[in-house]
Amino acid sequence: MLDYRRHDINGSPVWAKLHQHQRATRHMHMRELFQLDPQRFGRFSLEVDGLLLDYSKNRMTERTFELLFELAETVNLRGWMESMRRGERINVSEDRAVLHTALRLPADAVLEVDGVDLVPQVHAVLQRLRAFCERVRSGEWRGYTGLPVKDVVNLGIGGSDLGPLVVDEALGPYAHPGLTVHFVSNVDGQHIARTLEKLDPRTTLFIVASKSFTTPETLLNAQAARQWFLQAATEADIARHFVAVSTNADAVKAFGIDPENMFGFWDWVGGRYSVWSAIGLPVMLAVGFKCFSEFLAGGHAMDRHFFSAPFERNMPVILALIGVWYNTFYGAHTHAIMPYDHGLRRLPAHIQQLDMESNGKRVGRFGERLDFKTGPVIWGEEGVNSQHAFFQLLHQGTRLVPCDFIIPMNSHYRVDHQHAVLVANCLAQTEALMRGKAEAEVMAELSDLPGDRLDMLLPQKLFPGNQPSNTLALDKLTPHALGMLMALYEHKVFVQGVIWGINSFDQWGVEYGKQLAQRILPELSSEGALAHDSSTNGLIAHFRSRHEY
Ligand code: F6P
Repeated sequence: MLDYRRHDINGSPVWAKLHQHQRATRHMHMRELFQLDPQRFGRFSLEVDGLLLDYSKNRMTERTFELLFELAETVNLRGWMESMRRGERINVSEDRAVLHTALRLPADAVLEVDGVDLVPQVHAVLQRLRAFCERVRSGEWRGYTGLPVKDVVNLGIGGSDLGPLVVDEALGPYAHPGLTVHFVSNVDGQHIARTLEKLDPRTTLFIVASKSFTTPETLLNAQAARQWFLQAATEADIARHFVAVSTNADAVKAFGIDPENMFGFWDWVGGRYSVWSAIGLPVMLAVGFKCFSEFLAGGHAMDRHFFSAPFERNMPVILALIGVWYNTFYGAHTHAIMPYDHGLRRLPAHIQQLDMESNGKRVGRFGERLDFKTGPVIWGEEGVNSQHAFFQLLHQGTRLVPCDFIIPMNSHYRVDHQHAVLVANCLAQTEALMRGKAEAEVMAELSDLPGDRLDMLLPQKLFPGNQPSNTLALDKLTPHALGMLMALYEHKVFVQGVIWGINSFDQWGVEYGKQLAQRILPELSSEGALAHDSSTNGLIAHFRSRHEY
């Protein structure tokens, strides 16, 4: 059963011990930790089904982990994990279960929630998706002129865009050569206009992807797609070119999409956790159902590990606790994600939504104020491009920036020895960030310089190091490995939410901006008086005077 006590973890003895431990160890340099313990990598690394996590390059000792595991016990993490797995309504503000893990269960599993086994429902939708994908991929599904589908356009935003977009790009090597998937999310008309100008309505299939089917950005893009399509075809042809993915069958019908062409999912799947559901349809079309099933199996492998491994050997728990250490006890503001894989270049954006929409909260799950730092700003960019852009600040700036480096050991593309160069760069960065470059090393390099130049250059060539990082090494970016990686981050975010006492599954904070936009929209085209602050009034007036109708 859920623990309904107020979250007062910052009043607990272990919280105080962690602060005290941070003060006592904050001057320690990782370089020395490695010198003192030649086995540090072995002690602080972990492999699960071919996914290696090296977490040895952190400002942490055995004692740090002991205290963090005690923290996890204190918040009853195991109990919360079980509550999630069993389908208890841990999303308390929306009174919903949180069961994206159920989407990854194999067909022979059983998960009874309120007396109903959810697995057959999940697999019934998967089978419908499978049949649809096979028809489209084989060319049996024909457009209104009898031609097969060549382009698929996913119209969705947030979780209905980012998850499938990342997976589609990452699994590019597995994609159907005759099908191209496009993602349109932005309400900025250029996104849909520039996508459609390359396409042929006779061979284009649209997926309107929206959990709620009320998101204005998506519905406007769907309207624009429909109008574009109807310039060439008729209403009767829509059924062959528009399908929907949603939990809201009535709204789908009202929009004019045949319920036969709708693939459903459930309110116990959060938007940012929904790529494993029918929201993954664009990916299924691109890579095929078998490949998508391997992605689901990878997610399930991580779930099995997460729900069963002891905390000391539990990858999501360890990753989460490391993050808590830096966010809450070091006060680090940000966390960077650096995938050294071009196919994973949008992964930072997906994790940004996953983490910041989940744990970007200042009150606990029962409304209590949280007097400590919670979710970090997540950012990042693909390596090695990021090295030539912002790594300067990581190496010599003044901020603590914990980083995750993600690197496959093998590439799908054998372009000379370029993959080895990529790997060498990734490892070099984690080494440089950890060890830095000490004065004696710089002196040795500059020994020929005259004194005044040496004095000027020496401090500029020093690298303090001690910048923490985790490295996640995949054997290869397969659907299974990708599933494991994405589920790993989902569980990491959940564990951090439990430690901080946050409900990671609602997102009230995005509503306010939406409400204000509704108010401002009619004001842009009216002459009426404005009652905002002077900045907003001024900007609306500026638009009124400059916009060309
Ligand atoms: O931005 C808020 C949000 O609700 C996200 O959580 C969600 O992924 C996105 O909007 C899209 O929502 P929907 O799938 O309902 O269109």
